[in-house]
Amino acid sequence: MNVSMVGSGYVGLTTGACFAELGHQVLCVDNDAEKVALLSRGEIPIYEPGLEELVRGNAAKGRLRFSTSVAEAVDHGLVIFLTVPTPPQPDGSVDLRYVEKVAREIARHLRDYRVIVDKSTVPVRTGEKVAQTIARYNTQGVDFDVVSNPEFLREGCAVHDLLHPDRIVIGVQRPRAAEIMKELYRPIAAPVVVTDLNSAELIKHASNSFLALKISYINALSQICERAGADVDLVAEGMGLDQRIGKAFLKAGIGYGGSCFPKDLAAFIRISEELGYDFRLLKEVAAINEEQKERFFKKIRRALWVLEEKTIGLLGLAFKANTDDVRNSVALELASRFLREGARVRAYDPVAGRKAQRVLRELEICEVGEEVARGADCVVIATEWDEFRRLDWARMRKWMISPLLFDGRNLLDPAHMVALGFQYEGVGRGLRIG
Ligand code: UDX
Ligand code: UDX
Repeated sequence: MNVSMVGSGYVGLTTGACFAELGHQVLCVDNDAEKVALLSRGEIPIYEPGLEELVRGNAAKGRLRFSTSVAEAVDHGLVIFLTVPTPPQPDGSVDLRYVEKVAREIARHLRDYRVIVDKSTVPVRTGEKVAQTIARYNTQGVDFDVVSNPEFLREGCAVHDLLHPDRIVIGVQRPRAAEIMKELYRPIAAPVVVTDLNSAELIKHASNSFLALKISYINALSQICERAGADVDLVAEGMGLDQRIGKAFLKAGIGYGGSCFPKDLAAFIRISEELGYDFRLLKEVAAINEEQKERFFKKIRRALWVLEEKTIGLLGLAFKANTDDVRNSVALELASRFLREGARVRAYDPVAGRKAQRVLRELEICEVGEEVARGADCVVIATEWDEFRRLDWARMRKWMISPLLFDGRNLLDPAHMVALGFQYEGVGRGLRIG
């Protein structure tokens, strides 16, 4: 099938490359000419495991091309995906200007029947508005369908999530579009849920909000564990084995970040408000997340007393492991607060160092993890990179001025770290060690 992606960022590029891998003919369009030139040379502007091979391999086979032209996207794709940004506005509502603009542009170039699919995360009823817009600007009255097909990919394992999804959600206005979408996804063995447009759009916001709720639930429990003398990871394990609860997204930490959860939650609260419902539960989820971030920061400040003139070794800058994305990264937020209070921050991240430094110039980026400990008054783990478990912690301990270790992701074994001479503090680990 001929498929076009309009917007070739994280979502558009990864989804396009996966469609090509499934055997479709894919054209990825972006209005950033520099990005298109880079992609056409086989260079990938983002770090996503497995993506580079997929892009290069499929480009070589002639199944994946790049362009800056929306007209070409409309000409090429029977199915045209909208994967443009839907950023938050200061009041939490979603900025839909790119979606609207691309819808108008597509309408102007429509010559034959096309399926226009919204993959960007949008408020419920956006699909209806996209359909109205296309109808208005499509002066030749060409037939078309609008579909909502939300993405559920997690950065860092996006390729896997796209090729092995738990489900495929297809929201349509007419059955013909559902058949085309099912054909597009036929090579993937996953349950397909066909709904109306509004329900599909809601599934996305409802799912992300629920996952954020799970994280805030376990983070709130981490506070109870610290006070009561219990271990939140053991509590999560015991809870998670109940299939009705499930183990996923019950990892306590420093609060969720990233380009989706904070923004989607704010948007969903706002959307609910506009629909006349005060979604108090979700407001509390967001408040608990802010508290969790604040508590972790204060824990460190309390231990160091004054941050000025202190050196903090920071492990992790990305908003989570296996990505170089630092958008809404809690790790970066921490770094920024340390710097604001006059500390020196020596940081290491396996892939996000350069991106982080572009945002926070004062960061001192180390080339290897152990180096953050040199002359440090404390070391903080802020991203759950697996490789941090395997650092030479004994050597790091020797390089530190004082042995304070704050493990914001509960990556390390507390008893082992205490045996190495550290004063260890995790999250929700209230059990006495040693
Ligand atoms: C975006 C949305 O922000 C998110 O809500 C949605 O769920 C999926 O799409 P992402 O792919 O992570 O997420 O954004 P980004 O990496 O910024 O990519 C968007 C791309 O669209 C950029 O490459 C940008 O240059 C391009 N773009 C933007 C266009 O091609 N046309 C436009 O009019 C605007
Ligand atoms: C999320 C959704 O999972 C995905 O389905 C959606 O399409 C986009 O948003 P992503 O933001 O890439 O994906 O990352 P995710 O793995 O969900 O993590 C989000 C944040 O929550 C990270 O900061 C992560 O560290 C944190 N997290 C996640 C926890 O603190 N505990 C957990 O148990 C899981």
